[in-house]
Amino acid sequence: MQLKFDWLIVLENLRRGIMVTDTTLDGPSGPRIIYVNSAWLKMTGYGRHELAGTTPRLLQGKHTDRAVVRSLKQKLLNRELFHGQTWNYRKSGEPFLMNWYCYSIYGERPKPIYYVAEQEDVTEIESLRMKQRLLVNPNDADALSFFSVLDEWKSQRKKG
Ligand SMILES: Cc1cc2nc3c(=O)[nH]c(=O)nc-3n(C[C@H](O)[C@H](O)[C@H](O)COP(=O)(O)O)c2cc1C
Repeated sequence: MQLKFDWLIVLENLRRGIMVTDTTLDGPSGPRIIYVNSAWLKMTGYGRHELAGTTPRLLQGKHTDRAVVRSLKQKLLNRELFHGQTWNYRKSGEPFLMNWYCYSIYGERPKPIYYVAEQEDVTEIESLRMKQRLLVNPNDADALSFFSVLDEWKSQRKKG
């Protein structure tokens, strides 16, 4: 097996968004973004140059579920794998449903050296699922609230 290869080209061509941060979880400036791949930039609309000194909180907004991000923090502190989804926002302000895994990366020592996230926009597939739920029950609260987030953005955009 070949261990020497161009890992950056591989990361840049993965279909999922990849984000690597440092391990400072406390305070407003952490965790700091160290690297994101091209799929992540495409998904969020940010440019690489805009990310210096920022944290993944730049993706959060009005409909981001605080319980989900609290759970991420707790899982990382417990050295467990996080998997969850919540509303995040592109640079344009458009909401999208982020589905992601997040976990620690270890070097030679038992302390984590990076946190990494594998991230995917699942808005489209979730829209289909929610439409089906509305066919079964037109009052399905989760489905109605899902579409109200997207409708809110569409009407804001029309006004602006
Ligand atoms: C590697 C990594 C990726 C993260 N990705 C996201 C993300 O995509 N969306 C999000 O809402 N929060 C994400 N977070 C969570 C926030 O950065 C922050 O840790 C979380 O909001 C909890 O901290 P707080 O309660 O101080 O805000 C990520 C955190 C890490 C470490």
